[in-house]
Amino acid sequence: MISEDVRGASSADRGVEAEPRSDGRVVLQNGAFREERIEIPILPWEEEFGWRMEEAFWAYFNRSEDPEGGNRRWIIERDIPWDQVTREAIPPDVALMIESFYAVESYLPDFAEQGLNHYRSMVGLTSSYINWSYEELKHGRTLQLVLERSGSRTRQQMRDFRTDLARRKWTMPYPTPRQMLIYAAFQEKETNRNYEHLRDVLAGEGALGAAHALRTIGRDEAFHHAYYKDIVKILLEYDEVGTAQDILMVAKTFRMPAQHLMPNMEERVRVMVRNKVFGKRQVRDEAIIPTIKAFGFRDPEELESVATARPMPTNGHATRLQRSEVDRPIELGSASEGDSPNEGELPGEGDLSGGETSQGEPAGPEPARR
Ligand SMILES: [Fe+2]
Ligand SMILES: [Fe+2]
Repeated sequence: MISEDVRGASSADRGVEAEPRSDGRVVLQNGAFREERIEIPILPWEEEFGWRMEEAFWAYFNRSEDPEGGNRRWIIERDIPWDQVTREAIPPDVALMIESFYAVESYLPDFAEQGLNHYRSMVGLTSSYINWSYEELKHGRTLQLVLERSGSRTRQQMRDFRTDLARRKWTMPYPTPRQMLIYAAFQEKETNRNYEHLRDVLAGEGALGAAHALRTIGRDEAFHHAYYKDIVKILLEYDEVGTAQDILMVAKTFRMPAQHLMPNMEERVRVMVRNKVFGKRQVRDEAIIPTIKAFGFRDPEELESVATARPMPTNGHATRLQRSEVDRPIELGSASEGDSPNEGELPGEGDLSGGETSQGEPAGPEPARR
């Protein structure tokens, strides 16, 4: 049987057929073995920008695991104090918050698949996305183990919850690579702040092992933010006005991802607001405005004035970044300013991004500028 398989494989050289199709794809087939060859057009600026990103990524990667310096690599089973986690009970409300963040991290298959397709023509962005996915994978796993090992959830409960989440698919909230890179810079910052607040809540409840886990994950999120922030600064070099317009639009319409995919979202948001882990002002003051400043703007007012300036002629890079990737086989949202692709689908869906008042009433999207 094995020798037949080997013979089959070796005969591929002789038996492969090439059938050019009307859409330009080439099909290579030998019996049941069938591959397609799809051409990916890589424009000169995509090559240049992609390789610039590649250098930035490897510098970031090497810093991340420099054995002599600030090595931030961690190992799930070694670096989290699991004995402590097992001994320390977590209050139900706090467990619910951990579960909510676990749910967001669980959409990694969609984030990874769509992100890789989105940036396929830019080498450095695909490299960073693969590393990013590895790091995010550890976040979901760690949160799952915190819930299970603290006795907050059974393994079966986590399996059922995860399976239920997997029945829905996340899609990108913005249609262009530049908008998604800006969104990532904001979102990683907000995630870092959420985890830091949740860590404080856990520490206050005496769950120090779980608090340690949240701190460890939050540190990764801070690095992710720093990387995307640096990319956006480079995008500003290429097209300051157009990038500023996108920053302003994303800041005004920002929502955390996958909220509309989660069960009982209203209750989850209420608990987070009550515990000051998440909120309207918190998003604005701790994620949106600091990130705008980190991009190099003095404040949101300066961003707005740059965004409304007359665009300078560009070398074509920015135009390509602003355009929808019509030639890519990916699913895209159709967000425009002040609109969410899923607006109105679920009650309370806007709560996480728009936040709530201290009384807990849902509010709409929060403008970055005051
Ligand atoms: Fe994460
Ligand atoms: Fe992250």
